Amino acid sequence: MRRILVTGGAGFIGSNFVRYWLKHHPRDRLVNLDLLTYAGNLENLRDVESREQYRFVHGDISDGVLVEHLFREEEIDTVVHFAAESHVDRSITGPSAFIDTNVMGTFALLEVARKIWATDDTACRFLHVSTDEVYGSLGPNDPPFTERHSYAPNSPYSASKAASDHLVRAYGETYGMQVITTNCSNNYGPFQFPEKLIPLVIANALEGSPIPVYGDGKNIRDWLYVDDHCSGLEAVIEKGRLGEVYNIGGSNEWCNIDIVQLICQRLDELQPGKAPYAGLITFVSDRPGHDLRYAIDSDKIQTTLGWSPAHDFQSGIEQTIKWYLENREWCEHVRSGEYRQYYEQQYGQRVG
Ligand code: NAD
Ligand code: DAU
Repeated sequence: MRRILVTGGAGFIGSNFVRYWLKHHPRDRLVNLDLLTYAGNLENLRDVESREQYRFVHGDISDGVLVEHLFREEEIDTVVHFAAESHVDRSITGPSAFIDTNVMGTFALLEVARKIWATDDTACRFLHVSTDEVYGSLGPNDPPFTERHSYAPNSPYSASKAASDHLVRAYGETYGMQVITTNCSNNYGPFQFPEKLIPLVIANALEGSPIPVYGDGKNIRDWLYVDDHCSGLEAVIEKGRLGEVYNIGGSNEWCNIDIVQLICQRLDELQPGKAPYAGLITFVSDRPGHDLRYAIDSDKIQTTLGWSPAHDFQSGIEQTIKWYLENREWCEHVRSGEYRQYYEQQYGQRVG
């Protein structure tokens, strides 16, 4: 039986992971430490919050006293570290929070784990959940990122995640800490905050607002259904080798404009508007430093740990669109308040 500290478990991937883990490992203890920033939402966890094995703690990963107390009280043997500032556009307008949480917060967590686990020879592990963006941008014909690809982050977000990856690696090498890092491609699925491309397109289409596409829409991302990311993390927790890095991806590359068109077409069928939703597509000025292409080579996790994604893109995007159609109230809640201000700041000034 594991005793797991999940950080950032009220966010998009974290909440999907909490649900996934409680379903597949009902005897494990799961403590969710989350600061509840704009991206953290306890509504994401309503269906599991009363489970006996689950505990939510409202707090900051940078609060060493709190984290140490939790480690001791809950006898934590596994950390799954999601907590982060995660949106590239926000990192461009306000990088400071990214350094605070992604770099200093990860450092604070590592320090507590190092202190508490130093005398422990049981199977402790610190799983650091990171991103493919640390590798920078690929050209159209480059091979996908392997774990040996050099780091070349291009945004304050990816630079802060790269810094955290380096700290995690250093704690493994220097102190012999029980660390593993995963670098995953773009996730999509239920409970994703509608500042990210897929939920933003769905939400804007349904309210008849312009659908902003950056630049020429030809940038490419490699999309993975969030549950497949969770099963990849499960494989790494159970079978991954300490000190290793595993890339996780969907081998599913799409141009942004093709995804946007696909969502509009499917919405035309499921929830027809007055006119085709594609008429709302608006090309706007590009994201500064916009990476052209990401693609992950997940051969290592597939061959050494036996993981592979269970969802193809057709079924994953279908489930996702339907989830947003069935959960419009959730979307309205998270888009009220701070989101409106953010949206105006982010998109008000962008011209086509
Ligand atoms: P998210 O923004 O939806 O959620 C982040 C969560 O962290 C929120 O619940 C927030 O309240 C919490 N948080 C932020 N600062 C905190 C702090 N100081 N202390 C405690 N909690 C704090 O992010 P996400 O998209 O779910 O991403 C989760 C992790 O996965 C991140 O580390 C991200 O870099 C990584 N990742 C994301 C993707 C993706 O496509 N979304 C892909 C690869 C890796
Ligand atoms: O690759 C993994 C990363 O994927 C994660 O580490 C990040 O946390 C996550 O946010 C995501 O980063 P991206 O920048 O790729 O995701 P986003 O949804 O913001 O944008 C996807 C693409 O769509 C990107 O090329 C920018 C473009 N885009 C995005 C928005 C929000 C638009 O064209 N219009 C938009 O309004």
